[in-house]
This record gives sequence, C-alpha cells and structure tokens, in this order.
Amino acid sequence: MTDSALTRRTLLLGGLGVASVATLAACSGASGTTGGRMPSRTFGAPVPVSPSPGQKTVTATLTAKPATLDLGGRTVSTWAYGDTAPGPVVRATAGDFLRLTLDNQLPADTTVHWHGIRLRNAADGVPGMTQDPVKPGTRFVYEFTAPDPGTYFFHPHVGVQLDRGLYAPLVIQDPDEPGGYDAEWIVVLDDWVDGTGTTPDDVLKKLIADGGPASSGGMGGMGGMGGMDHGSMGGMGGMSMGSPPWGDAGDVTYPFFLINGKPPTDPDVLTAKPGQKVRLRVINAASDTIFTLALGGHRMTITHTDGHAVQPTEVDAFYIGMGERYDAVVTLADGVFPLVARPFGKTSGGQAMALIRTGPGAAPTAGVNPAELSGQVLIGSQLQPAASARLPDRKPDATARLDLQGSMKPYQWGINGAPFGSNEPLTVKAGQRLRITATNMTMMTHPLHLHGHTFALPSGLRKDTVLMAPMESLSIDLDADNAGDWMIHCHNIYHAEAGMMIALNYVA
Ligand code: C2O
Ligand code: CU
Repeated sequence: MTDSALTRRTLLLGGLGVASVATLAACSGASGTTGGRMPSRTFGAPVPVSPSPGQKTVTATLTAKPATLDLGGRTVSTWAYGDTAPGPVVRATAGDFLRLTLDNQLPADTTVHWHGIRLRNAADGVPGMTQDPVKPGTRFVYEFTAPDPGTYFFHPHVGVQLDRGLYAPLVIQDPDEPGGYDAEWIVVLDDWVDGTGTTPDDVLKKLIADGGPASSGGMGGMGGMGGMDHGSMGGMGGMSMGSPPWGDAGDVTYPFFLINGKPPTDPDVLTAKPGQKVRLRVINAASDTIFTLALGGHRMTITHTDGHAVQPTEVDAFYIGMGERYDAVVTLADGVFPLVARPFGKTSGGQAMALIRTGPGAAPTAGVNPAELSGQVLIGSQLQPAASARLPDRKPDATARLDLQGSMKPYQWGINGAPFGSNEPLTVKAGQRLRITATNMTMMTHPLHLHGHTFALPSGLRKDTVLMAPMESLSIDLDADNAGDWMIHCHNIYHAEAGMMIALNYVA
C-alpha cells in the first residue's frame, strides 16, 4: 500500500510470534502456490467502460481537499469531499451506471471505496489491489453499475484517511420501493479527532509507539489468545443489556462525536409533522466507535441492514458498528426529540445528538439520556432476513478460516497469523459457495467487512459488515459471483491499517 504501511510492517516484524515469523518467511519466498497474489501491483490508467443501452448514467465529481469545519464553535482543519463532512450525498437507482470522478486536491495519495456495493473489481478503490493510488493533483474516474438498492457510503482506502472528514452517503434507491414513508433522513455517525491538535496519522503513530492506549492492558498475542484482563469497559452505551457483548470497544480517545457533521451543542435538525413516517438511513462512518442509537420518545422499526431487507423488527435502540448501516422507520410524535448515538465503552467526549422537531418546545441538552437507550437494545446480527433477501440454500463448495488476532500492547493486529501483506490470501473459484469460518481471537469487538459481495449469517441474514464480539465464531457464506481481488478487513480503521486485513482472490 503506502510508504507508511511499509514502515508499519517493519515496525511490527520485531514483535510477531514464532508462528508468524515462519509465515512471513514462507510468504516472502513465493506466494504463488495457492494462486494468492500479494498487494502492491501496478495498474496504469483504468480501462473506460460505458453504460449498456438504456442504462441511466449518474455522474458526480468528488473533490477531496483540505477544508475547515466549524464544530459548534470550534474550528478544525481537516480533509473532506468539498467543504463539508459528510460530503455531498450521491444518489442513484438500482441498476444505474455511475461515473464518479475523484479530483484529488489533497497533499497525499488517495482513492475512493464504495462501501458495500457489489461493483466491478476495477472500481473498488483499493490501492495496490484494484488500482494505483491517485496522486495529488490528478483525477480518477470510477465507473460501475450499482446493482442493489440500499444505504451505503464511500470513503478513501488509504491509511487512516477515513478518520478525517472524507466520507459521504451513497443511496441506491429501489425502483420497486413500496415507499410507505413521508420523509427520509440520512443520519451519518462519526467520531472526530482531526484538527483538534492531532491528526489520525499521529493517532496511529502514537498507538504503535505507545503499544496501545494508556488505559488498556495487554491482549492475546498474534498467534494465540492468552489471558486478559481488560479492566473497565467504561461508557454507558448498552448498559441495559446487563452484560453487553462488545467487551473493550475502542482504542482512540475522541473529543467529539458527530451526527451529520454536527456536535450535540449545535445539532442537525429534521423538521417534520406529527404523525409522519420517517425513514432513517443510519450510517456509522466512525473509525473506532460502536454506537448505541435511540430516538427519545419513540420506538423504531428496523427494515434493512447493509442494504438488505429484514423482517421488520421494533426496537428501543440498536448497536451500530463501524461500516454498518441500518434503515429504520418511525412514526413521529408531537414535540422535540433527541436522536442520540452513544459511543459504546468510551468515557470521554460525550455523545452524538441530532433533533427531530415536529412541534414547539425547548431542545434537549447535549447530555440528554433518553430512556430508550436503557431499553431493549438490538444486536443487529440477531435480525432475521426478509424472504426476498435470503441467500438460496446451498451446501458450501469450499471453506476457509479467518482468525482475527492481535493485541493493543504492543499495537499489532492481523488475520491468520500475520498482518496484511504478510498473510496468505484466501482464495475462491468463480461459481463456488464459500463458507468462511471467522473467529475473533481477541478480547475486543471487530466489525468484519467484505468488499464486492454480501455474505449470509447462519440465519440467512445478509450483511457486508458484521460486529464480532470477543471470542465469537461465525460462519459466513458467500457466492463467488464477482471475480477479482477483494479485501476482507476489520472496519476499525486503526486495526485495519495496523494489519487486520486479508485478501480474497479469485483463482482459476
Ligand atoms: Cu469501508 Cu475496505 O472498507
Ligand atoms: Cu478490529
């Protein structure tokens, strides 16, 4: 990937266990035995493609550039798509052809990844795997068909750039949408540190140099699990569960949590009428924060996750991991209501809040504590799929293991015994049903994300990002119907950049 990735890899070498060193030695010799390809190929200019006859084309230009944002009176310098974070929403209809131009006006290489979309490999935005990095002052045109309706977002796939302001919603509308709601509100959650005296790159450097966050004890080594005592779980989110499943949830201390780029002292507001039905499209664009989301005075009916329809499920609140999306429908009462996203397991930085206003009344304060947060809090992987979203029943043709490993002290994360670049890619043949048995061998929760496909949990629930609790094991099935080289990684961007990624390569 990038120079900094190489530096990081060098830093990690000293700390890896014996098994990993053996893996490293094996890999550096030849990676061809399983058909696995290592990253950092070069690509040249993308081959232009055209829409099919009759296919509608949606175009947009995204200018990645330095920007200054106002966070409730505090000015921060960051990088964004245009002048705001989140950047401007991109909207299309399922089946449309998207031609999206990245104009890189940053002082660094970047790319755009279209998170959750089953697109052609060449448009996936992973430098060294699907394209060359886009150099400062140059452009790159992403051309792809968006086959499935749903709530998505996009962000860079370089370093920890996601933890700047470089993210924006991507909504693919359903041409057959039954509708049944009066308004739509896109709700983008974020944890914010950039420009507050540090940058995400500095945060990562410090995590590696310090061997993890100051408050955290050691965790299992790369090869094993070891015993661990992770001290207090902190935070308030999800206390209602009695024992919330997420264990230790984050590494980074954030001064702000935002909804639609705004802190709770200057909240984003949706104005609507009592009795109206609103569809919330909730996206967690945070880098290191799982949130519990609730709307004061209301229950919500979850209708979709990661774009896929679920059996409608009424909840007081739900967890949302980094990279996950949930759509919920709610019938609005009369008044002013806080939509609160409470960081799980974090003791500073407060919470994120926006408002829905359907009548007169004073706005709740930034620290408001809606009762729903202590109600029934849904764990998304327990949703049941809608019949239309089920993966058809089929025996797997192939299986693979995926072990999430690592520790915070020292700060090392990897998959299958080594950090990305040193681990052996998973492989699949086109047409196969692949069953990946994923195991979280750490005491931390990781949102596991797959590019270019969706997978099914044993219940049939379709996801592209799933929260894996400490020590949890989960079989995920996917149909290999989109050839190319793809990423599987933790969507904690600091974990990913420290090595918690692996390739999934199609082989002959
Ligand atoms: Cu949103 Cu590879 O990730
Ligand atoms: Cu992780």
